[in-house]
Amino acid sequence: MVNRSVVLRSRPTDVPQVEDFAMAEGEVPEPGPGQFLVRNLYLGVEAGMRTRLNEEVSYIPPIGIGEPLESPTLSQVVRSEHPDFKEGEHLVGMAPWSEYAVLSEQTMLLERVQPEEGTPLSYYIGALGSSGMTAYVGIHAVGDPQPGETVVVSAAAGAVGSVAGQIARIRGCRVVGLVGSADKAAVLTERLGFDAAINYRETPDLAQAVNEASPDGVDVFFDNVGGPTLDAMLTCMKPRVMPSDRRARVACCGMVAGYNEAQPLPILNMWEVVARQIRIEGFLVWTYPELHGQAREELEGWVRSGELVVLENVSRGLEEAAGALCRLMSGATTGKTVVALDDAKAA
Ligand SMILES: NC(=O)c1ccc[n+]([C@@H]2O[C@H](COP(=O)([O-])OP(=O)(O)OC[C@H]3O[C@@H](n4cnc5c(N)ncnc54)[C@H](OP(=O)(O)O)[C@@H]3O)[C@@H](O)[C@H]2O)c1
Repeated sequence: MVNRSVVLRSRPTDVPQVEDFAMAEGEVPEPGPGQFLVRNLYLGVEAGMRTRLNEEVSYIPPIGIGEPLESPTLSQVVRSEHPDFKEGEHLVGMAPWSEYAVLSEQTMLLERVQPEEGTPLSYYIGALGSSGMTAYVGIHAVGDPQPGETVVVSAAAGAVGSVAGQIARIRGCRVVGLVGSADKAAVLTERLGFDAAINYRETPDLAQAVNEASPDGVDVFFDNVGGPTLDAMLTCMKPRVMPSDRRARVACCGMVAGYNEAQPLPILNMWEVVARQIRIEGFLVWTYPELHGQAREELEGWVRSGELVVLENVSRGLEEAAGALCRLMSGATTGKTVVALDDAKAA
């Protein structure tokens, strides 16, 4: 049987183009002892994948030329050489962008999925999967917003940002979203319950716009973007009021503004961190496994009750996957970007 994959053809130097990727064919791999063969049903398309297209090591090793891309996928076991993983079970885990893959208990982020009645499987790589977990961890473990506080989220209409902002709203915060288009801004305020949304592309002075939308000052900034957005936001954070130990918090989730750039983007306003006594903290979702059970339970509850609105944009077919990643990295997508493979319908 043939196993098709999406592989890296050349390393992009800017926004990735579909020519940077190719389709490849190989044999379906054989599971060894303790392993299981899965067929992928949904591929999660994520901004962090862009960092692995560069030669340098980011937070996990780069993808080699000719190797398949990798991301959290939703798959189904088709053959198992492991007594605890049965044929037909649904899994999520870091897997190659191939029709079939061999996984094991050592696979990064591996988890069994038992979808609730009526919940689409694809949610388990989005709002109920790595994107939702990231939002939850960043809000709870790092941002820690209290009811009545103001939370600003960048890339707020994206997979992580749209969930982070809604969790803050559910926690009783005022929520302001930063986005790159008027359509995205409308989605935030009309569908997701954000209090305000700012289209940074049409805003000459981002800090002024954020200050106007945050009359009490900004307590938490959940940052997916870095670069000039983070720079401007440092000047908007609430200064520490003595003798309280409470400080404004910046939860650094990602720096997507720099992922297509050859050099890191400079941050000039670091003095504000001193003067305002801001706490800045980066985090990686998989380093908080102790929060994942609680996160899944709360996120599922909010989806069930309708408090958490899930946004997805779905492409169909493995041959569309590279294009979906390119669109994500050009800022064209809203919500979780997912590729449904042909077998998704049958599963
Ligand atoms: N720390 C962790 O453990 C962890 C885990 C997962 C993801 N992340 C991070 O979370 C962030 C969001 O990832 P995601 O997968 O959910 O992506 P996403 O938000 O669905 O899509 C990326 C969005 O980033 C925005 N963006 C801002 N500047 C951009 C630029 N120069 N080029 C392209 N896009 C730009 C665009 O929105 P606008 O049009 O609104 O600008 C775009 O839609 C990323 O920084 C990612 O690295 C972190």
